Amino acid sequence: MNQFFNEAMASDARLVASVTVEHCGHVFQGLKSMVDVGGGTGTVAKAIADKFPDLKCSVLDLPHVVSGLKGSKNLTFIGGDMFESIPTADAIFMKWILHDWPDKKCVKILEKCKEALISTKDNGGKVIIIDMVVNNQNSHDATETQHFFDMLMMILASGRERTAKDWEKLFFAAGFTSYKITPVVGLRSLIEAFP
Ligand SMILES: C[S@@+](CC[C@H](N)C(=O)[O-])C[C@H]1O[C@@H](n2cnc3c(N)ncnc32)[C@H](O)[C@@H]1O
Repeated sequence: MNQFFNEAMASDARLVASVTVEHCGHVFQGLKSMVDVGGGTGTVAKAIADKFPDLKCSVLDLPHVVSGLKGSKNLTFIGGDMFESIPTADAIFMKWILHDWPDKKCVKILEKCKEALISTKDNGGKVIIIDMVVNNQNSHDATETQHFFDMLMMILASGRERTAKDWEKLFFAAGFTSYKITPVVGLRSLIEAFP
């Protein structure tokens, strides 16, 4: 099941990674270090590490997910628990993480992210999220599909999809002061949250 799930995640991550790196590369510009929290087997982090060779990337995921995975010159894998501790970095990246969790847990994860950013706050540390923003797309079909995902996450993971207002509540509850939403691919957006 571990392998099956990780491969399913990686197949989505391949598409999103290429679009993110090609069209939203500017959000990584100037960063020296980044942790992909819940980054699975590292598909997105690898694409970012390849595109930005001076950016030190780490993937934090549960020990059984990253065990035995090999990094590269600027990519390392760390086994751990995001609810306990997140390694310090200029930026924390999370794709398809927060929609897995109810609001209280998300606030906890975001607080841990903020702690990890504290030492680099003056240098413009931020959290970069790829997830859905419900009602953010122009098409009615997209909103219907986002609601379908909302139900799926409720049933599978006690999670949910969120509107811009829902995201704002989470960010402010976790002590972030501002955020910016950019639609990237299909149903998903790139959200930057600033301490
Ligand atoms: C929906 S998958 C997303 C994977 C990857 N970010 C992607 O989009 O392809 C959620 C990931 O969170 C990881 N995860 C779950 N609980 C975690 C925890 N407490 N600490 C770190 N990672 C966790 C899972 O192992 C899984 O890899």
